[in-house]
Amino acid sequence: MPGPLGPDLDALAATAGRVRSCALCPLHAGRTNAVPGEGDGSSGILLVGEAPGRNEDETGRPFCGAAGKNLDLGLAAAGIARPSVFVTSIVKCRPPENRDPTPGEKASCRPHLMAQAAALRPRVIVALGRHGLSGLLGDMAPAAFSRLPGSFVAGPDGIPVFVSLHPAAIIYRQKWKEAYLAHWRAFGEWHRSGAAARPGMVLSPPPPQE
Ligand code: URA
Repeated sequence: MPGPLGPDLDALAATAGRVRSCALCPLHAGRTNAVPGEGDGSSGILLVGEAPGRNEDETGRPFCGAAGKNLDLGLAAAGIARPSVFVTSIVKCRPPENRDPTPGEKASCRPHLMAQAAALRPRVIVALGRHGLSGLLGDMAPAAFSRLPGSFVAGPDGIPVFVSLHPAAIIYRQKWKEAYLAHWRAFGEWHRSGAAARPGMVLSPPPPQE
């Protein structure tokens, strides 16, 4: 269920061109390929991860490695076709050794994400993990993040943000897999229902913390 106007695919392609030639932060110097994102956004869903890894840097495609397999599992649980969502990350170039993107790098790359959101006019944004959320809303501590997965928060320009675990998190914490899939199932049901989202609305509880 896209927003009433639907995605502006020309504007989206123009943003991808700017991302590929971007030199706004030092990450551009180490990239093989920038990774603007992919998908037609026809579902009205924008997914935002953290940063490209090795596979993404080599191919220029988002979430095409191990984390991508877990993203595909989540989307399958939700009953949502991957080509119908737009998948991107907070920073579009791979940080060295896959380190966390710095606040400066996230701030430099944010205008690209905001241009993508303006072109896509999504009904909902899904933040894939803490960095995805902090790139949308501003930095937050892990403890403040841990109670949010499975619920909605208020996002930019009044677009609701559903908070999810990062798909890579369940590679290292298999015990979170059940909660991860439950979040996606609940999200799919919410999306198909056409219901409105309120900040604070919980679709599925966060995973238990150790
Ligand atoms: N992790 C991300 O956050 N983004 C990608 O594109 C790949 C892995």
